Amino acid sequence: MAKQRKLRLGAVIHGVGSSVSAWRHPDIQSDASINIGFYRQQAVKAEEGKFDFAFIADGLYINEHSIPHFLNRFEPITLLSSLAAVTSNLGLVGTLSTSYSEPFNVSRQFASLDHISGGRAGWNVVTSPGVGTAANFNKGGHPEHASRYEIAEEYLEVAKGLWDSWEDDAFVRDKESGVFFDPEKLHRLDHKGTHFSVQGPLNIARSKQGQPIVFQAGSSEAGRNLAAKTADAVFTGHETIEEAQAFYADVKQRAAAYGRSPDSILIFPGIGPIIGATLEEAELKYEETANLGSIEDALRYLGRFFDHHDFTQYPLDEPFPDLGELGSNGFKSTTDRIKQKAKEHTLTLRQVALRSTTPRSSFIGTAEKVADEIQRWFETGAADGFIVGSGVPNGFEDFVDQVVPILQARGLFRVEYEHDTLRGNLGLPFPINRYAKQTVTSN
Ligand SMILES: Cc1cc2nc3c(=O)[nH]c(=O)nc-3n(C[C@H](O)[C@H](O)[C@H](O)COP(=O)(O)O)c2cc1C
Repeated sequence: MAKQRKLRLGAVIHGVGSSVSAWRHPDIQSDASINIGFYRQQAVKAEEGKFDFAFIADGLYINEHSIPHFLNRFEPITLLSSLAAVTSNLGLVGTLSTSYSEPFNVSRQFASLDHISGGRAGWNVVTSPGVGTAANFNKGGHPEHASRYEIAEEYLEVAKGLWDSWEDDAFVRDKESGVFFDPEKLHRLDHKGTHFSVQGPLNIARSKQGQPIVFQAGSSEAGRNLAAKTADAVFTGHETIEEAQAFYADVKQRAAAYGRSPDSILIFPGIGPIIGATLEEAELKYEETANLGSIEDALRYLGRFFDHHDFTQYPLDEPFPDLGELGSNGFKSTTDRIKQKAKEHTLTLRQVALRSTTPRSSFIGTAEKVADEIQRWFETGAADGFIVGSGVPNGFEDFVDQVVPILQARGLFRVEYEHDTLRGNLGLPFPINRYAKQTVTSN
């Protein structure tokens, strides 16, 4: 009998939230973004809910217009290493940019997190959409969108190569004979490419799950191709099930074109569920959060996607302005979508700003209704799982306490962890060391 496909869940832990004004809500700890106690408590809650992983997003550039959470927050690897100590099955996924770092350091950091956590590390590979990021690094400017993805592809090739520096049984550690490692099982990478020259080997072995799990979060053509070619999982965002289904089919088909099984790449739309005892109560929670911010806040939030463009210069209640190519070298897929939706539905600037700041998704209502929606997306080719954030204060806790038990009762989601590695829980294949593979095939 075919094994039943299981839903996967990740928890976005995002300090004071992803909006401009959520921090003002009475139920939000206003220092949450820099409060390790908050992160620990959320990670423990995610593990209580049998989540596959917790996810820590990141960026490398701020200015006075950035949202409060971005202004003062932890660096993901340091934070995840600390969360490893208070959890035992939860995967630990963090963002790190391939445009503003070096593969040797980064593959070593994730390999270390992978060992520290006993095989639970995941890396969300991003190319840094914010043009301003270049001001913080000696790279001579922000690489173009296409070039960032080219760099990312070579970067990942190097990182994965470095992770295989040592075959799984390379460390003999025989005190009697004095043999610490088998030199036959140590491999130098000697990579010389367009963007990187890296000799290796890496000074850390493979972990229990072989290599950290690679996530990818860009939805542009280039982002989809990179994901289809190299990623184990994809983060994405969609307003409707139809859009999500189209994206899902497209990425799976691209993966197949690269000779991969469509099941070897998992697709996770991000959702911010809002749960109430009744639909009215859930709607009220949404309104309460949406009303915390002003229209000026909303314009500022929208501006971030367009290189911090000043939207206050346009009339609020007239059609969304024509911005030409603005935003195309940064958050490309997001800005393309905003422009396209504004045109399609003849939206005003005010409507676009409010929709972007406080998205109102279909994951709102009673716990039963939210579970129905999750099941619908999961069973109709829109998602393999979801990354769950807090649409409103306590939204994540409500999800764990009220929605997860329904998903479990329906047999869609695990009641107990199957494994203690992230790869095992996600049901992804163990990557055989490339050099061991050669030995196996040549024998
Ligand atoms: C769920 C989700 C999480 C993301 N997390 C991050 C992040 O932590 N840091 C970041 O710089 N970009 C993040 N992004 C943005 C993408 O990585 C990407 O840079 C952006 O969508 C622009 O790339 P694109 O033009 O290929 O879509 C995220 C996107 C999604 C949908």
